[in-house]
Formats: sequence, C-alpha cells, structure tokens
Amino acid sequence: MENFRFYSPTCFVFGKDKEDEAGAYVKSFGGSKVLIHYGGGSVVRSGLLDRVKASLDKEGIAYCLLGGVKPNPRSGLVYEGIELCRKEEVDFILAVGGGSVIDSSKAIAAGTIYDGDFWDFYQGKKIEKALPVGTVLTIAAAGSEGSGDSVITKEEGMFKRGAGSDAIRPKFSILDPALTQTLPPYQTAAGITDIMAHLYERYLTNSEEVEVTDRLIEGLLLTMIHEGPRVIADPNNYEARANIMWAGTVAHTNLCGVGRSQDWNSHNIEHELSALYDCAHGAGLAVTMPAVFTYQMNHNVMRFAQVAVRVWGCQMDFAHPEVTAKAGIEAFRSFLISLGMPKNLEELGGKEEDIPKLVEVLCHGDGRNGTISGFVTLDETDCENIYRMML
Ligand code: NZQ
Ligand code: ZN
Repeated sequence: MENFRFYSPTCFVFGKDKEDEAGAYVKSFGGSKVLIHYGGGSVVRSGLLDRVKASLDKEGIAYCLLGGVKPNPRSGLVYEGIELCRKEEVDFILAVGGGSVIDSSKAIAAGTIYDGDFWDFYQGKKIEKALPVGTVLTIAAAGSEGSGDSVITKEEGMFKRGAGSDAIRPKFSILDPALTQTLPPYQTAAGITDIMAHLYERYLTNSEEVEVTDRLIEGLLLTMIHEGPRVIADPNNYEARANIMWAGTVAHTNLCGVGRSQDWNSHNIEHELSALYDCAHGAGLAVTMPAVFTYQMNHNVMRFAQVAVRVWGCQMDFAHPEVTAKAGIEAFRSFLISLGMPKNLEELGGKEEDIPKLVEVLCHGDGRNGTISGFVTLDETDCENIYRMML
C-alpha cells in the first residue's frame, strides 16, 4: 500500500425529507446570501426547488436563482453564474440537482473569487479558494456530492476537462433517496454505470497489497449488481435507491482509492464522447469500459481475473487466466446492457468517421501531449484502436 492523505470534510445528511433542512445547513456553514443553482427543470416539476426555497425562507436567508444547467455542463453558464454571484454578493452556493449542477456550482464557486478566467483551473491551475458549496442531490451517479472534482465543457472547441481541489469539496450534501424516484430508467441506469466505473477505475491499479480497498470496491460492486436490477424493475424501491445512493457517494469520495494508483483511462476516453455527442456520461462509459478493459487486460491479467472471480462469480482457470479475465469483462458488459445501456458507438449516437477527431481532441486537445496515462499509458494509436473496438 502506498502512503496517502485522505481528506473528506463533507457533512453528509442522509434520508427522507432531509432537503427541508437545507436552509439550516446553509446557515450552520455561514451562508447569508445564496445562489440556488439548478438544471433543466426536473427540480421545478418535482416541487423540490420550492421546498428548498421554503427552507431558506424559514432561516431568513436571502437567495437568487440560476437554472438551466445542461447535462455535461458548459462554460457559458459558469461565466453567467460568476457575474451574478459578484453582482449579488453571494457568499454560499447551493446546488440542487445532479453531478452537472454540482460541477457547475463548484466552477462558479471557484471563479467568483478569482481574478482571472475560471477555465485556468480546468487547464491545471490549482484552485486555492472558493465560495462554500452545499448540495441537495437528485441522482446517484457522478459522486460530485462528495468529491473535490468538477468537470466542465468549454463551448469553444468543446473541450470537456476536469479540475480538482479540496477547496471545492462540498461543505454539506443532502442525500434523500426518495428524490431519485422521479428519474427516467435510462438516467438511473447511466448513474449505476458511472458508480461502477468509479469503482473499476480504482480497482485497476499498479499498486501491490491493497486488500482493504480491493475488498471495499468488491463489496460496493456486488451491491450495485444486487440493487441495480431491483431499482430498474421497481423505480419506487426506496431501499434499493438508498443503497445505490450511498454506494455512489462512497465510490467517489476516494475512500476506496487511497494508497493505490488508479486508472481513469475509461473516463478520459468517455469524456470525448459526451463532449461530442452530448450523451449521458454513464451511457458513454457503458460502451467505453468493456473496450478499454479488453485492450488493457494483458497488462495485468490476474487483476481482471480476480474481479471476475470475486465479483462476477466466474470460475478461475489457472492454466488460462485470460479466459477468466475476459469472462469477467463480458459479464460486466452483459450486466450494463441488461440495465438498458447502449452496447456500441452507434447506439450512443456516434459515427466511425468521427474517430480521428475524437483521438485528436483526446490526445492533443487543450494542451495535452499525445498520450493519456492510467493503468497503462495510451498513445494515439491505442486510443484509435479502443474507439474502433466500440463500433
Ligand atoms: O437538468 P434536469 O432537468 O434536472 O434533468 C437531469 C438531467 O437531464 C436529470 N435528473 C437529475 N435528477 C433527476 C432528474 N430527472 C428526474 N428526476 C430527478 N431526480 O438527469 C439528467 C442528468 O443529470 P446530470 O446532473 O447530468 O447527471 P450526473 O449526476 O450523471 O452528472 C453527469 C456529469 O458529471 C460529470 C460527468 O462527466 C457529467 O458531466 N462527472 C463529475 C464527476 C465529479 N465531479 O466528481 C465525476 C464523474 O466521473 C463525472 O465525470
Ligand atoms: Zn464518472
């Protein structure tokens, strides 16, 4: 196990109707003028926005509103939010929605009190400080409610890039599983896929002797395999939703990733798909992961065989561990398809002729040096081969 520092200061508040306490939590973290940031309307239709507003009113906290965050959130609305926060002298940002809303909120939080262009942070500049952010989560997926990350797409060039810093970790996150019951099945499945991706990206490690985190990840993957089909069959199954929601948060606070190197090649390769085709991030991952895993399998076939046996119940073939490894990848692929996820680039809305462009932006876009690096280092030819495996 490698040395590590684990910092996860977010106050998680879990359970039914906890969103009615949002105002009290904002107050306890010092907020007096709030920006409520939200998405394309689901929180208006469900009545959640009104409940959150009422909880702020109850505490006598003033607020302004900015809706319209799109999935795969864009830089344009971030600039708008920064301007609004400066004008209204906002001192706390409350994200009401999914990963896209939370990521946009984090970008606004960092950008409002920064002299330069907020995009600097998405090109590698460290975020030193930000306005405090709180969240009311409506979809179990990205894990942004407990992470120090934010992913934004710059409209000019459609670069989808991430920034990471402890400064943008949410002060509190309210997780009410009942709020996820209004999700369309496709979004529920995309969320499950993303959660499993966050686990796999950590499982694929070059570090030795990481039994604690291996076992945590395996337990969470088994939970997703148990709860995923239950929630697809019955979207109102509160207990299944509760387990998925907490798994989604635990999967991405990095509790499962400490003391080990991690992969993230699948995420980098997928981000170009959701940037170009505006598909759901989880749906993009469903197509990306089996291709990336198959391509990377021989780098450490025993690691893939281990997850195949411990999580997917495959029989270990000691003479041919690659057979076991491949069986695990195929079991994962079939599971995602059974949830309703796409199985190839075409179902995602992609086209073969786009592959050179995807590779170019992935490997060279916005200052990259021609490779991406995770479990293995991938160059342009590798990335092209992987995109072709998705056809
Ligand atoms: O915009 P509204 O109307 O709210 O609709 C959303 C959106 O269309 C809808 N939705 C959310 N909660 C709902 C609901 N519809 C009905 N009922 C509800 N309760 O679902 C759609 C997707 O929402 P979005 O926020 O985009 O989903 P998700 O949480 O999957 O976030 C995806 C974004 O997070 C990034 C992804 O790249 C993508 O841009 N990621 C962020 C990470 C992080 N910050 O740590 C890590 C992840 O790996 C990921 O890259
Ligand atoms: Zn993800």
